[in-house]
Amino acid sequence: MYVLGIETSCDETSCAILRNYRVVSNITISSLREHKKYGGVIPEIATRAHLKNIDRVLNVALREARLPLKRVGLVSVTYKPGLIGALVVGLNFAKALSLSLNKPFIGVNHLHAHLFAPFLNNKEKLQFPFLGVVVSGGHTEIYLVNDFDRIKLLGQTRDDACGEVYDKIARALELGYPGGPVIDRLYNADYRNKFCFKCGRVGFDLSFSGIKTAVIYKRMELQKKRILDKETKVKLVSSFQHSVVQTMVKTIIDAAQKHKIKRIVCGGGVIANKLLRQTLKQAQARTNCECFLSPLAYCGDNAAIVAGLGFYLYNKRGVRRSINLAGEAN
Ligand code: KG4
Ligand code: ZN
Repeated sequence: MYVLGIETSCDETSCAILRNYRVVSNITISSLREHKKYGGVIPEIATRAHLKNIDRVLNVALREARLPLKRVGLVSVTYKPGLIGALVVGLNFAKALSLSLNKPFIGVNHLHAHLFAPFLNNKEKLQFPFLGVVVSGGHTEIYLVNDFDRIKLLGQTRDDACGEVYDKIARALELGYPGGPVIDRLYNADYRNKFCFKCGRVGFDLSFSGIKTAVIYKRMELQKKRILDKETKVKLVSSFQHSVVQTMVKTIIDAAQKHKIKRIVCGGGVIANKLLRQTLKQAQARTNCECFLSPLAYCGDNAAIVAGLGFYLYNKRGVRRSINLAGEAN
């Protein structure tokens, strides 16, 4: 079956065509550049960009897949969580296509879709249960996944999301936006202990706002002393990233061990981070857990993960959604 995926929960407008679980095309346009000068995503700008781009993105995805629209057999769309105005654009577009094509429609949870990334083109690797870890600009969550319709939240951030803190620190240090890829590039292991920053953790919950404030205060102190040069910024972000990665990986491994889970599945924008990937792989060797990391191409928001999860839920779990399904911000 050909599955059309549609994703518009944040600043990426994306459409993908899958043949069962194989990605045939996956086209994404981001309005990132339009948000840059504000240092974060502006919902109204994102919504308007989706409206402007969604038709074109669909047409390119179909063209690249060499597929006429009428051969689409299932329309899968993100219906939550996200910016409500942005979600509504994709959701209504998907409903209209489903009605006009007379083909089934399914809405999926965007966070769960991130966990499908390692299984695109690779469905035979999908086995339950697993520990699901989503780390992005809006979320930091750890789940026990017994199946994609039996998911239990084990822990989450109590304040800022992990990617959000990367973005805020990079902004405070005038390093650019989005902050994650910049800090990832600047990281220097020699400087990882230059400053003693600590992330918060209670059980499997995390907290990043304390470390954010600590880095920003340290920056102010260094600026007053007039020693905030590029090298010092690298020291700051390296110490910050070291602490974040250490705390995250320890929390993930502790959660897996407590629940006697041998498989760990990770997705979301921050999972593109080199140090995080490397540290998770090292933990895998040490702990006898198997890690399935989202391929880099599917870490950020994209419609292939939405189509993959939608097809799985429809085909394997018999999930059906009413055409009245409403978008949900949370
Ligand atoms: O999943 P995503 O594309 O969008 C959301 O659903 O939020 O994640 C975007 C977030 C941003 O905060 C960005 O700074 C972060 O992912 N990010 C990274 C890296 N690449 C993107 N964080 C750390 N290291 C990276 N290489
Ligand atoms: Zn996302």
